[in-house]
Amino acid sequence: MLDSTNSYLIRNKSVYLKHGTIPVIVSELQTKGRGTSNRNWFSNLGGCLTFSILWQYKHKIQHLPSLGLVVGVSLIRVFRNLALTSVHLKWPNDLLYKNKKFGGILIECNTNEQISTAVIIGIGVNFKLSSNLASLVDYAVTDLYEITGYMLDRNQILALFLIELRHVLNTFENYGFHVFRNEWQSYHIYQGQNIVLRLPNRLNVEGIVDGVQDDGSLTLITSSGRKNFNVGEISLRAKS
Ligand code: BTN
Repeated sequence: MLDSTNSYLIRNKSVYLKHGTIPVIVSELQTKGRGTSNRNWFSNLGGCLTFSILWQYKHKIQHLPSLGLVVGVSLIRVFRNLALTSVHLKWPNDLLYKNKKFGGILIECNTNEQISTAVIIGIGVNFKLSSNLASLVDYAVTDLYEITGYMLDRNQILALFLIELRHVLNTFENYGFHVFRNEWQSYHIYQGQNIVLRLPNRLNVEGIVDGVQDDGSLTLITSSGRKNFNVGEISLRAKS
């Protein structure tokens, strides 16, 4: 049991960096799991896969958000290889099934590092949520049990994630995000759709999703032209 696998790696980063390996920390239960936008990430014993890896990126990272998109691609590839063809991504880093969230990614790093960047990549996937836990979050959630009708083997999925992650991180390091861009867009549930983007200052922007840029930003065609956004939360625009 840990507070949070991301927090654990942040505290112990220097120990692991000395070894030159890619550590993976998996927790059966997190007591203070963290999500994006300072949210909590809730999980129940045996019901979730929660893990983090510490990855030493060879360069100073330019576009951290695009790394999150690449991690999303690796997770979707694993699910689609298992014939779960209806799983999608929602910009920037949500795993969705029929508009319900079943997983997320939290990337943290110290962007002041000059030569290389130690990045902590935290991943949480719901396998079988308890009913009281599902009621704690303010968005629609689901889990792999509901999606597939059976309990997938968490160890097996973890192994598949790690193999795919290693592969995509190497490609990202050598070639950047643009080689993943079309694939990411093909997985995006809102590609080409009319959406509302809620900005941190609570302003809403309406537009049609026109993909993502190499820096990971979301492009919208709005009434005042094509615009890129680095932050915000998407929801579907209600039909009028
Ligand atoms: C999100 O809000 O969508 C991101 C969720 C990320 C959760 C994972 S679980 C493993 C790792 N440790 C944490 O505390 N958070 C991430």
